[in-house]
Amino acid sequence: MSALLLRGRVLSFLTRPEAIDDRASYRYEEDGAVLIRDGKIAAVGNFHLVSSEAGRDVRVVDHRPHLILPGFIDAHVHVPQMQVIASYGAELLDWLNTYTFPEESKFRDTQHGRRIARLFLDEMVRQGTTTVAAYCSVHRESADAFFAEALERDMLVIAGKVMMDRNAPDGVCDTPQSGYDDTKALIADWHGKGRLHYAVTPRFAITSSPEQMDMAGALMREHPDLHMQTHLSENHAEIAYTMELYPEARDYTEIYAQYGLLGPKALFGHCIHLSEREADALSDTGSIAVFCPTSNLFLGSGLFDYQRYSRRAKPLRIATATDVGGGTNYSMLRTMDEGYKVIALQGEKLNPLASFWQITLGNAKALSIDARVGTLDAGTDADIVVLDARSTPGMALRMETVETLAEELFLLQTMGDDRAVREVYVAGRPAKSGLVG
Ligand code: GUN
Ligand code: ZN
Repeated sequence: MSALLLRGRVLSFLTRPEAIDDRASYRYEEDGAVLIRDGKIAAVGNFHLVSSEAGRDVRVVDHRPHLILPGFIDAHVHVPQMQVIASYGAELLDWLNTYTFPEESKFRDTQHGRRIARLFLDEMVRQGTTTVAAYCSVHRESADAFFAEALERDMLVIAGKVMMDRNAPDGVCDTPQSGYDDTKALIADWHGKGRLHYAVTPRFAITSSPEQMDMAGALMREHPDLHMQTHLSENHAEIAYTMELYPEARDYTEIYAQYGLLGPKALFGHCIHLSEREADALSDTGSIAVFCPTSNLFLGSGLFDYQRYSRRAKPLRIATATDVGGGTNYSMLRTMDEGYKVIALQGEKLNPLASFWQITLGNAKALSIDARVGTLDAGTDADIVVLDARSTPGMALRMETVETLAEELFLLQTMGDDRAVREVYVAGRPAKSGLVG
């Protein structure tokens, strides 16, 4: 395969930007280039320097004046909820019972699972997202379909079949034993194949019996390198019900801790109403709190205290995510726009450099995949997004007065959506321009 040389304004992050003028936190090349060979980044830097290294057998794609960044990462999303998004009028537990569980029961049908997996990954690519940490339905077939589709596209995904054995209709319940067996089979079939990672996925403590939580703990002991993903402390009714179901636990976080489910590859969706003790427990174990702003606003769950969690004496590792279909948008740009407002409601501001760090390198670090994606470092996988801050008339007009890179990023976040995503490369191959529709 010949090499590909992308020319454009190249931006990637080195560390978390502490302020809007934190120039040391990122690398920016106005006339930059990314050289891609065999799906990996071979070199990055000034266009003239990189192109002189590239040799003759290279195809140049000129993306000027657009920005070239690492592909976006969505750290928590539900594949079987594409037809749940925009369901009216409920808070979490009613929303699950009324809309989500009936919808997820359709994923017993392999054809349906395959169709939605394909449309889901198309949609992610359309939005500039090249990696997801995803929940499939309880059915093993839904995870088979998702992994098969991701493998075909050579995408780096983290995913798992949901484990849930109670407090839900039969059509979306497994048993402690079948949940364990199906998870073992899925790990054997998919984990480590191509760029696929398996995540042990007990949905949350309400829908997993103590026997099933035990099984989830056993799976993590047997496969300590795997991710674990679940939900924690999203809404008050959920917390109260959880504590009724596990009366011996001090708090919600302790339930997961008792089954050995905390750790540096443990992803906890929401974490809105944590006590200081719970936040300490997450911090002490290196567990990750996943901020899902559009979902938290849509379901009226509460305001995630991003700044306090980042700055406390024992800081939390934080990722950000769409949480579709509780979340209302597939775009990480739209997600960070809403995230900015959630943080603003608590009297703070998230600077746009930190925002773009979060959805690239920040999320890669939170998911422990930063050796492969999230930067544009030579040797890493060529997952890349190309952004156009003039993609609508309103944005083009606003760009007339934009003077700095930080202002441009803030405009992209505030007004941008899939139209601002000009191209996406997955493992070095153009992925958006090839989509139908
Ligand atoms: N808690 C348990 N399951 C879910 C889900 O599917 N979405 C959200 N937002 N919260 C959950
Ligand atoms: Zn979720």
